[in-house]
Amino acid sequence: MIVKLEKVLAPHRVSTARDDLDNWGRDWTRSFVVAPSAVVFPETVQEVVAITRLANTEGFALVPSGGRTGLSAGAVASHGEVVVSFDRMNRILDFNETDRVLRCQAGVVTAKVHAFAEENGLFYPVDFSSSGSSQIGGNVATNAGGIKVIRYGMTRDWVAGLKVVTGAGEVLELNRGLVKNATGYDLRHLLIGSEGTLGFVVEADLRLTEPPAPSRVMVLGVDRMKDILSVLTRFQADVTLSAFEFFSELAVERVTRHRTLARPLESSSAFYALLEFDAQDESPALAAFGDSVASGWVSDGVMSQSEAQARALWALREGITESIAPETPYKNDLAVRISDVPGFLDDVEHAVGRIYPDLEICWFGHIGDGNVHLNILKPPGLAVTAFYERCDAMAPELFKLVAARGGSISAEHGVGMLKRDYLEFSRSAAEIEIMRAVKEALDPNGVMNPGKLLP
Ligand code: MLT
Ligand code: ZN
Repeated sequence: MIVKLEKVLAPHRVSTARDDLDNWGRDWTRSFVVAPSAVVFPETVQEVVAITRLANTEGFALVPSGGRTGLSAGAVASHGEVVVSFDRMNRILDFNETDRVLRCQAGVVTAKVHAFAEENGLFYPVDFSSSGSSQIGGNVATNAGGIKVIRYGMTRDWVAGLKVVTGAGEVLELNRGLVKNATGYDLRHLLIGSEGTLGFVVEADLRLTEPPAPSRVMVLGVDRMKDILSVLTRFQADVTLSAFEFFSELAVERVTRHRTLARPLESSSAFYALLEFDAQDESPALAAFGDSVASGWVSDGVMSQSEAQARALWALREGITESIAPETPYKNDLAVRISDVPGFLDDVEHAVGRIYPDLEICWFGHIGDGNVHLNILKPPGLAVTAFYERCDAMAPELFKLVAARGGSISAEHGVGMLKRDYLEFSRSAAEIEIMRAVKEALDPNGVMNPGKLLP
C-alpha cells in the first residue's frame, strides 16, 4: 500500500514517521486511540482522485484531515487508516468581484479567507476561536457555526459551490457558484456537514458580503438563566445583534486566571451575556440595558468604548476552551430551541447533580442560537479514563433530556466517533437508514472515514 501511494504521490509526500502519524492522525479530542498507517499530502485534485481509487482497489480506509481543530473525533484515525491531509492544497484560486465569490482549495485556513475578504473590501462572516488553524474543508465537512451565527448563519449559508471527490473517486462540481439553481436535489448541501463520510471536499466557492459597521460589545451580569432570554427578547426588539453569547461564573473564573484578564464587572453573577451590535444602535441598546436593569434581569453591565476594549471582552468568551483544556473536560455541544434553553439547563444541572454531585459544569456557548456547550470538568484526583467512563455512563441520561425537547446532540461540532453511538437521540431510525443509503451511493466500498457519524 505504501509503495503504491508513493507511486501516486512523490515519496516525500507519504509519511509513516511516528511523529507525523501522531500529529496528523488526531484532532483536538484526546480520548481516542491514534493509529493511522500513513499520512499523505496531495497537491492536486487528480492526486486526491488517485488516492481514493487506490483505496477502493486495495481496500484501505481514508480519513480526511484539515486543521485538526475538531472536537468530536471526526478526523481521528484509530484503525490503520490513511490520513489525507489538505495542508498542501492551501491556495485561493480565484475571486470574482461581481459575484463576490472566491474559490479556494480545501486546505485554506479560515483566517486567510477573512484576510482575503478584508483586502478586497468585503467580509467572510463565519468565525470562531479556532479560525487561525481550522481549514475551509473541515468547516464545510462539519457545517461549522461559531460566534456570528445569530446574524450570518452557518458555513452552509456561505457555500456557493463545491468540488468534491466522492468515495468512488468521481469528481463532482456542485452548484458552480450559482445563486439560483432549481434542478433537483442539491448535493452540495448533502456534502456540507457529511464529516468526510461521503467524499473529500477539495475546493469551495465561498460568498463574501459587505463588511460590518463598527460594533460595540456589552457584557451583562445575569443571575437567572431564564432572564437571559428576556434580555435577548428585549434587545432584539430594537437592536440588530451580531452575537449573543453566554458563559457562567465558573468560566469567567477559569478564563481570567488562565489568560490573566480583568473580570468584566465588579460584581459577580451566575451567568454573563455577551452581546455585539452595530455602534449606530448604541442608543437603543442603552435603552434596552436600562429596561433590563429596571426589570431585575441584569445586575450590572459594561460596554466597550474602543476596539481594544471590545477585543478584551471577546477574550473572556473566546479563551474559555483553552482555559479549561487542562481539566480534560467531557465536552458536549447541544442544541434546543432558544426558548427551551433555561429549562434544559435546569434539567441537565439536576441530572448531573443527582448522578455525580462532585462534578462541576462549565457552561458557555451561543445562547442566541439555542446552542449550549456543556463542559463537565474532571475533578483533580480522578484519572482521565475513569472520568470519561463515568461521563459515558451518564451520556444516555443526558441525551434523553435533549431528545425530550426535540434537540440536537451536536449543534456545530459534528458527530464523529464521539457522538456516533448516540445518533438515535437526534435522528429517527428511518433517517439513519436513508443516510446509510446515501453513503452507499457515494462511497460504495466504505473507504471514506469509516466509524464516523453513522452507528
Ligand atoms: C466555542 O464555541 O468556543 C467552540 O465551539 C469551542 C468549544 O466548544 O470548546
Ligand atoms: Zn461553539
